[in-house]
Amino acid sequence: MKQPIKITITGAAGHIGYALVFRVASGEMFGSDQPLILRLLEVPSALSALNGVGMELEDGAFPLLYDVVLTDDPAIGFRETNYAILVGAKPRTKGMERKDLILDNAGIFAQQGRAINEHAAEDVRVLVVGNPANTNALIASANAPDIPITRFSAMTRLDHNRALGQLAKKTNTLVSHIQRMTVWGNHSLTQYPDIRHCRIQGKPALDWVTRDWAIDHFIPKIQRRGAAVIEARGLSSAASASAAIVDHMRDWVLGTPPKDWVSMAVHADGSYGIREGLFFSYPVICREGDYAIVQDLELDAFSKARLAASEQELQEERAMVERFLRP
Ligand code: NAD
Ligand code: LMR
Repeated sequence: MKQPIKITITGAAGHIGYALVFRVASGEMFGSDQPLILRLLEVPSALSALNGVGMELEDGAFPLLYDVVLTDDPAIGFRETNYAILVGAKPRTKGMERKDLILDNAGIFAQQGRAINEHAAEDVRVLVVGNPANTNALIASANAPDIPITRFSAMTRLDHNRALGQLAKKTNTLVSHIQRMTVWGNHSLTQYPDIRHCRIQGKPALDWVTRDWAIDHFIPKIQRRGAAVIEARGLSSAASASAAIVDHMRDWVLGTPPKDWVSMAVHADGSYGIREGLFFSYPVICREGDYAIVQDLELDAFSKARLAASEQELQEERAMVERFLRP
């Protein structure tokens, strides 16, 4: 029998948290043979709701769930944790961009980065979901100087999954027929969902759809999908976000499928000319808990301009949070 792993989920009483914790407890993230201990971290005012989540976890009688810790203390929430999923943060509402949240949420990720540095297990891996996710990952990692920066990532898997969904719908195929989708850049309006390297049933995606459709319809639709969900629901995405969190963590830890890659925002190491010191979404292949950025994809002038625009926006976000980047 495998040893139980510890998974911390912040904001566990929120909308995403409520859609996520039961999927994790059921084994969807790390497999049906992997026991786990959940550490759920909330703010004091949400502890009553968190207690309710705890009760429902007990009532779910999940065989893999060895223990559940409910707390508002980051030192307890991150103690010896192997996986930290940082969801807890303010969401945007109608009419806002994600970067409008930057100064409201930055302090959360600075504090949690420090707590992870001090209390988490040596092998901890961190996923940042709370928006603006790329820059919050930068803040958390900067406040955790003892943890390799490659153990931090931010979530663009929801954008990646949205891109798969829309391309499958347009081509009357299944998402399982599509490989090598890429979302580059920031989880924001400047993200670049790129089908130039995609294959559908083994053939180039651009044999199935026109470049004009990709530029005029597909790219803006994916870029604006989060806002469209907020417009329709009055609340930001939660079920699809929790599905993307499960996909992101499973592929990072258990590996990406053969001959395919996924999109993850990770520390830019100079790949594709992006300056170091930003979290940038790239195509990655994962094996045994490590990711490698897919190298040497050809970028045309249109693509290069899209990457540069997202890099510029991330640089501006970084400048706004400079004071949070020192532990
Ligand atoms: P929500 O308001 O429903 O829940 C957030 C929860 O976080 C609340 O319960 C709140 O009490 C808690 N929280 C706030 N500060 C905390 C702290 N310091 N420690 C622990 N918990 C804290 O919001 P939601 O819909 O669950 O969204 C959460 C975040 O995820 C938002 O920032 C949202 O924009 C973001 N998001 C990102 C993606 C993505 O693809 N990266 C997708 C969807 C949502
Ligand atoms: C999303 O993409 O759905 C989330 O980032 C929430 C939002 O604010 O759009």
